[in-house]
Amino acid sequence: MTSEQQVKTDNRPRPTTEQFRAFVREGWAPRSTELPARAEVAPYAAARREALSAAYPGERLVIPAGGLKVRSNDTDYVFRPHTAFAHLTGFGGDREPDAVLVLHPRSEADGGGHDAVLYFRPMAGRDTEEFFADARYGEFWVGARPTLADIEAEFGLVARHIDDLPDALAKDAGAVTLRVVRDADSDVAALVDQARTEAGVEVTEEITEADVALAAYLSHLRMTKDEWEIQQMRDAVAATKVGFEAVIADLRSAVERGRGERWVEGLFGLHARHQGNGVGYDSICAAGDHANTLHWIKNTGEINEGELLLLDAGVEVDSLYTADITRTLPVDGTFTDAQREIYDAVYAAQEAAMAAIRPGAKFSDIHAAAIRVIAQHVHAWGLLPEGIDVEASLDTETGQYHRRWMVHGTSHHLGIDVHDCALATREEYMDAELVPGMVLTVEPGLYFKADDLLAPERFRGQAVRIEDDVVVTETGYENLSAGMPRRAEDVEAWIAQVQGR
Ligand code: GLY
Ligand code: MN
Ligand code: MN
Repeated sequence: MTSEQQVKTDNRPRPTTEQFRAFVREGWAPRSTELPARAEVAPYAAARREALSAAYPGERLVIPAGGLKVRSNDTDYVFRPHTAFAHLTGFGGDREPDAVLVLHPRSEADGGGHDAVLYFRPMAGRDTEEFFADARYGEFWVGARPTLADIEAEFGLVARHIDDLPDALAKDAGAVTLRVVRDADSDVAALVDQARTEAGVEVTEEITEADVALAAYLSHLRMTKDEWEIQQMRDAVAATKVGFEAVIADLRSAVERGRGERWVEGLFGLHARHQGNGVGYDSICAAGDHANTLHWIKNTGEINEGELLLLDAGVEVDSLYTADITRTLPVDGTFTDAQREIYDAVYAAQEAAMAAIRPGAKFSDIHAAAIRVIAQHVHAWGLLPEGIDVEASLDTETGQYHRRWMVHGTSHHLGIDVHDCALATREEYMDAELVPGMVLTVEPGLYFKADDLLAPERFRGQAVRIEDDVVVTETGYENLSAGMPRRAEDVEAWIAQVQGR
C-alpha cells in the first residue's frame, strides 16, 4: 500500500474529479467536541519550562520535536520525539512529528519570563486533500491528529498552527536572541538561521555554539528527576521484570527451537510493546561467547544448555522513560562452579558500587568502588602482569591492566534516554556530586573471550554483567530493580520458581 502522491512513477492515479471530492467530504458523523483531560505530567513539564525560562531570560528558545524519518521511499520509521522536547512538553509515544515548542520572552513590563507556545500540524478538515490523499499526514492513512484545543486542554500549553512558526521566529529576530536545539530538526534549525540572517544577524560559529549550549543545558536539566519521573522509572522497571520473567519461563523453548537469541529478543520485545511503548534500546540477548561482545544486538545465535545467557534489556513506558537492566542467567537453571566464580566476583563489585552511592559522593566513586573489586579478583586469579599488584593496576596513568576484562564504565544516568544527560559536561556528570533524584545504572561485568589465552581456561567463552537501576535518596539510594533477584543463589531460585520447578 503506497501513497500515489509519493510514488514517483505515479502509476496509480487516484480520482480527482470535483464529484469525487464532494463524495469523500460528506457522510461522516460529527467529530466529538469532548476535550481530553489534563495530563498528569502537565504541571511537572511546566516546572521544567520554568527552570529553562529562568536560565535564559529575554531569549527566544526553540525546541523541535523532530520530523518523520524515511525508512525507504514512502515508508517512515515510527516517530519518537526528541528527548528535550518530550521532557519539556510531557509528550510521549509517537507525538507529535514536526511539532516545535517555542518559549517566547515576555517583556519586563509584562513581568518577564516566557510564554510557552506549541506549534504543530493540527487535524486537517475533511474538506482538505490531506484528509484522504496524504499518506504521511492524512487521516485516512495515519489516523486523526489532535486539534489545537485538544493540545491546550491536555498539556496546558498555548497551541498554534505550524504555519504560524516562521513569522513567530522572525518577530524581533534582530533584537531578541534566538536559540534552537539544532540536532532535533535540521529544517527548523534552517528556519531559525533564515530568521537570523533576514534580521541582519550573521550565523557565526559563536551563534551555533550558543545553540549547542542550549542543548547541553537541557541535557543537564534532566539529571535530577521529579517525583513523576521516578514513578515512570518504577513503572519501566516493573514492566521490564515482566519481560525478563517471560524469557525465563520460555528458556527451554529458546534452546529447543534453535535460533534461541532471536526467540528471546522477540519475547522480550513482545512484552515491552504490550507493557509499554517498546524496548528502550535494542535488547542484548547474548548466549555463551556472544556475551563478550558488549553491544551484541545481532542476537542471531543459538542458546545451549550449560551456557550463560546475558540479557540486557529495558522496557520504555508510554512516557518514553526506560529501564536498563541486565541479568546473567544459567540456561539450565544452575551455575557451574566456574560460572559462579565469575558471577560472585561481579556481584561483589556491584555491591561495592552500590555502597558508594549517597548524596555528596561523586558519580565517579561508583565506578572506582566497582573496578577496585574487579582488579582484586583478576589479581587473585593471577591474571595481572608480573609485578603488578592491585594498586599498581588501579593507577590511572600507568596501570589499568584489569580493564582488559571490564573495559566499560560502571554507571550512567538513565531516563528518557538510556544514556541520559549525555551532553552534560564532565564537571556536571563524571566529577559531579550525587544528589537525591538522580537515577543511575550500576553495571559491573567480567568478560572472558573464548580466544583469551590470558584468561583461565575454565572462564573462557563466558561473561557476566549484573545491571540494576537505582535512585539516589536523601540517605543513600533505593534499588528500583531490587524485585529482580541478583545474588547467584537467588537467581537460581528465581529461575526455578518462574519455571514452576
Ligand atoms: N544497555 C546499554 C547499557 O547498559 O548501557
Ligand atoms: Mn544495559
Ligand atoms: Mn546501562
